[in-house]
Amino acid sequence: MAVERTLFIIKPDATGRNLVGKMLAHVEDKGFRLIEARYTRLTREQCHEFYSEHAGKGFFPELVDFMTSGPVMLCCLEREAAAAALREVIGATDPAQAAEGTVRRLYAESKGRNSVHGSDSQASAEREVKLFFGVAALTH
Ligand code: RTP
Ligand code: MG
Repeated sequence: MAVERTLFIIKPDATGRNLVGKMLAHVEDKGFRLIEARYTRLTREQCHEFYSEHAGKGFFPELVDFMTSGPVMLCCLEREAAAAALREVIGATDPAQAAEGTVRRLYAESKGRNSVHGSDSQASAEREVKLFFGVAALTH
């Protein structure tokens, strides 16, 4: 399996509950290495670009409100098969559906306030890492 990079975001519900350290420890324990990170507040424009695949859906305004409601931790992570592996570690979108031991099962408050993001494919990972960290963050 190839070593790849993916985007991990610790969302405002989690930063607001002081869970940044626990989230990073969780993914490090699963074999991910932190390549680059930035603690920041997203603008509405950044959210629109980042979640453009969801523009026009019923939940989109709520998603943008939530993602801009507080600080987020943007992280570029590296591991073998990073995108697929991170999605496994994170669990299903709705914490009620997420498997035992996953980040969302352990920490998420609801389907909207679900604590973390992980790129949904290697192609998405490349787009998202580039969006927040630039193309250099994709170079090993
Ligand atoms: P994410 O992109 O944030 O990692 O989440 P995901 O892949 O598991 O889910 P996605 O389908 O990409 O949806 C993005 C975020 O929108 C909210 N959502 N709400 N009410 C709803 O039916 C609904 N569907 C999606 C979730 O907060 C989800 O994380
Ligand atoms: Mg998604």
